[in-house]
Amino acid sequence: MTRPGGASPSPTTLGIESSCDESSVALVRGREVLVNLIASQEALHAGFGGVVPEVAARAHLRQLPGLVDAALERTCARPEDIDLLAVTRGPGLAGCLLVGTGLAAGLAAAWDKPLAGVNHLWGHVYAAFLAERDLQPPLLALVVSGAHSDLVWMSRHGDFEVLGRTRDDAAGEAFDKAARMLGLGYPGGPALDRLARTGHASRQPLPVPALPGLEYSFSGLKTALLYRLRDLGDPSQEQKADLAAAFERSVVESLLAKLALAVDERRPAEVVIAGGVAANTLLRKRAAELVSGSARLTIPPLQLCTDNAAMIAAAAALSQVRQPATADPSLSW
Ligand code: KG4
Ligand code: ZN
Repeated sequence: MTRPGGASPSPTTLGIESSCDESSVALVRGREVLVNLIASQEALHAGFGGVVPEVAARAHLRQLPGLVDAALERTCARPEDIDLLAVTRGPGLAGCLLVGTGLAAGLAAAWDKPLAGVNHLWGHVYAAFLAERDLQPPLLALVVSGAHSDLVWMSRHGDFEVLGRTRDDAAGEAFDKAARMLGLGYPGGPALDRLARTGHASRQPLPVPALPGLEYSFSGLKTALLYRLRDLGDPSQEQKADLAAAFERSVVESLLAKLALAVDERRPAEVVIAGGVAANTLLRKRAAELVSGSARLTIPPLQLCTDNAAMIAAAAALSQVRQPATADPSLSW
């Protein structure tokens, strides 16, 4: 890991994201998002009920080059205007990461530009820096995505300490599995969110996971939903909505209970909630009630919460960390 001396504080950075099922290319200057194009693969995977890695990688291969052209066209930028290329190196699906890193390496060679590999998890946190222009570390972040539920302390740019994580399922994974049990399509999280808005959690209460310390666990809650559905036999649409609301409430209460504990321990001035699950309606509402007064809460707008390339460009540019652009599917913080 290196930090180049004398790097521009506001480079124009072209970001590429392809870790899972969103192909995305963005241009970011400093903290200003010039363009953030996202081609979702939702329709491609919907018939399979989940992301098919091989299908996702091929879709990135088809979509990413056109997105690069479109990003340049929309901003009237030329390759000469770009100071830095940034690409997600992991964690993510191996084939998908290889498509993005391969394209980025090709562009860097053709345009003779520096190239930074970016940790996708850092990217989620850096989305908050695009949302709140004066945000600075130190800060406490809750990163909740399809594969992670991590509480991290960011002491300075590019420096993250994991305070707590999940012992089993991630919050997004739990939402996706619950959605599947309730007969909702893929992607499950947003569908469950929509159904929960029409239900009442207290009519079908589910337990709130409670592990000691800053660890999460969502597998017991998932089993509780499974048993409840089995007991109900053929639940009505109303009962399904109530269960969606109850499941969502339990996940959100658990996420926020640990966040509150970490706030008590670390007393941060800045708190960030990021990652795809940060798009959840109840989480956004309850978090704002919880973190008021003591700290400032930043939750990026929806299109910066789910996977996107602007956050990848921001992570490379603002951290000034230059990691190799080699794919690493199991990369951690
Ligand atoms: O960060 P992300 O886009 O991709 C990963 O890095 O994993 O997160 C995707 C996860 C999925 O599990 C998806 O179901 C969940 O975020 N998600 C939501 C909502 N929007 C996306 N979960 C609950 N409510 C939502 N509104
Ligand atoms: Zn993500």
